[in-house]
Amino acid sequence: MYGSSHDGGGTDRPAQPRKRVTAPALRERKGGEPITMVTAYDFTMARLLDESGVDMLLVGDSLGMVVQGAETTIPVTLDEMCYHTRAVARGARFAHVVGDMPFMSFQVSATQALENAGRLVKEGMAHSVKLEGGAELAEHVHRITRAGIPVVGHVGLTPQSYHALGGFKVQGKSQAAARRIVDDALALEEAGAFAVVLEAIPPNVAEQVTRALSIPTIGIGAGAACDGQVLVCYDLLGMSLGHRPRFAKAFAELGDAVQSATRQFVTEVKSRTFPAPEHGYAPGDTGATPSGSRSKRATTKLAAV
Ligand code: KIV
Repeated sequence: MYGSSHDGGGTDRPAQPRKRVTAPALRERKGGEPITMVTAYDFTMARLLDESGVDMLLVGDSLGMVVQGAETTIPVTLDEMCYHTRAVARGARFAHVVGDMPFMSFQVSATQALENAGRLVKEGMAHSVKLEGGAELAEHVHRITRAGIPVVGHVGLTPQSYHALGGFKVQGKSQAAARRIVDDALALEEAGAFAVVLEAIPPNVAEQVTRALSIPTIGIGAGAACDGQVLVCYDLLGMSLGHRPRFAKAFAELGDAVQSATRQFVTEVKSRTFPAPEHGYAPGDTGATPSGSRSKRATTKLAAV
């Protein structure tokens, strides 16, 4: 794919071929063109998002809630993260793939954190890892980055601390709490993180953190001052079930489209109008694609038939 918005658009220079987005290149975007990050959990979604020009695909442990249907992210395992990250990495031709470190895969010791970050990179094919927490994890982040694995920090609302926080609540509301978030983010930067996610904090606190750091901040429910924004893909596409937080802008209503298409399928199967003759194979059929009957997004399996 050629010509993303940051490689020549708006000038008379020819568009540059799109290149893989790397951790150093993202680090350089501090204060520049805003960074876009979207979660993905499988190959097909990763490919669609990647082709749409997102900079980063986050294989979030939010998959525990939006893919597995759990109430929190706490039960997600490292094996599950490796499995989903590998699928996403296969679909990401240009985006930078971040593998999220699940609960209890990095808190125990810096050595545990390094070993498990290594698994996400080796088995999951992640380009970097993300972990939730602040200054208490500085040594862990330092060990991981020294081993050559880029790290994204995550402060503010850290969903793996659901029980300690008493739920999914906005953080940093008092001056002292805001100060702690700034200090935590600074400690992560000092330890070698190349970016920090700021989740569910007041915009003025996110602005304070963004000003204090020399690495990019990527916000979710943290206002417009951040160096980038991240959304869960199902929120962005209007496919999430239940409560939609106010920061989760739906840029489409694909949940409705899925249900309407499926209702149509049910109706046509029951009325025997699907499949029609053009969806089947006559004896002696060469298997050539009936014109206009198959989208370019047909699965590889179908495309081979
Ligand atoms: O797990 C996740 O999807 C996340 C994002 C919401 C930042 O951590």
